[in-house]
Amino acid sequence: MIPPYLFAEMARIKAEAIAPGADVIDLGIGDPDLPTPQPIIDALARAAQNPATHRYDESPHGWRPFLQAGAEWYRREFGVEIDPETEMVQLIGSKEGLAHLAWTYIDPGDVAIVPNPGYTVYWVNALMAGGEIYETPLRETNGYLPDLSAIPTEIARRAKLFYVCYPHNPTGAVATRAFYEDAVRFCRDHDILLVNDMAYATVAFDGFRNPTALQIEGAKDVAVEFHSLSKTFNMTGWRIGFALGNADAVQNLGRLKSNLDSKAFPAIADAGAYALREVDNCGALATYARRRDQLCDGLNSIGWKVQAPKASFYVWARIPRSDMTSAEFCAELLRRAHVLAIPGTGYGSEGEGYLRMSLTVLGDLNGERLAEVVRRVAESGLVPSLV
Ligand SMILES: Cc1ncc(COP(=O)(O)O)c(C=O)c1O
Repeated sequence: MIPPYLFAEMARIKAEAIAPGADVIDLGIGDPDLPTPQPIIDALARAAQNPATHRYDESPHGWRPFLQAGAEWYRREFGVEIDPETEMVQLIGSKEGLAHLAWTYIDPGDVAIVPNPGYTVYWVNALMAGGEIYETPLRETNGYLPDLSAIPTEIARRAKLFYVCYPHNPTGAVATRAFYEDAVRFCRDHDILLVNDMAYATVAFDGFRNPTALQIEGAKDVAVEFHSLSKTFNMTGWRIGFALGNADAVQNLGRLKSNLDSKAFPAIADAGAYALREVDNCGALATYARRRDQLCDGLNSIGWKVQAPKASFYVWARIPRSDMTSAEFCAELLRRAHVLAIPGTGYGSEGEGYLRMSLTVLGDLNGERLAEVVRRVAESGLVPSLV
């Protein structure tokens, strides 16, 4: 039985709340509300005029100009050399790649180590592929990093994949170089592929730069990273991303994909190359930083202790009530304040006691929607100090 996708459920709940006419403010899905920058749209229009983009892309791992631009972007951002011919594969968004990697590597009896809380795609696909999952709890006390020493040897022996994600969805936590060093060593010792989901690689604030697994000496032997243009360039609908790193992993994923899909519309890949080469995301980052401060300061001012994230566009906050579960609190928040947030348990059992609020708020041009969120939460009586 295939479980429903978390956000398909959330869309249903939102539609129910809107039906009677409520003005719901959606802090649910992390989908940039700002449009794709115009120069990228112009690049697509130009590329679509080129008949060469109207045909199948028969290259082995993706549109060459796109892979080349991705490798250059990675070197610029993270200082690591990648061979676009052998160490990269183009994806129809990173979700597709993360999902198909499980199908590439997991057979019945194999284990995928996945974060709890974490993006649901890792574990759902590992299970659908017939594998087992081992959940590493990510706790506030450990900076939401997995405790590698707590993973049983028997699990490590059977594990094929170890998914990690930093900047982290849903907590906004970031990784350290020391963590990646440990993770690379652990995966080398146990012959596991380290899968680093970096969908939010460059969504970071105040000059912070998240390190990457591939910056660690010898990481290409055991690690593959997933990158996306979705969150960086406001391109979620375009469906384009790439994986890079370990050559075997890239080849294996590419082989599975060549039996399943025939890549994206090459004009999209061409516009993606343009984005990677020519566009920075400073404008969007400034907007998210302003919203982050407004939301966190606003909620703190009404007595709800909330920490501002260093990266990602998510605010992960403790439920300000001990008499409600995450799901109950979010249901009350929607009912009383018409504010939609995601219960932490949507990302795993370790999310109990927390909720996630996204800073991608549609219609928030000058902070008006987030001011309204703070006002409604204060009025809802859900934050105890105001009761
Ligand atoms: C942690 C994480 N990884 C991957 C993705 C997938 O992004 P895309 O398929 O748009 O590249 C998302 C999307 O929300 C995400 O939150």
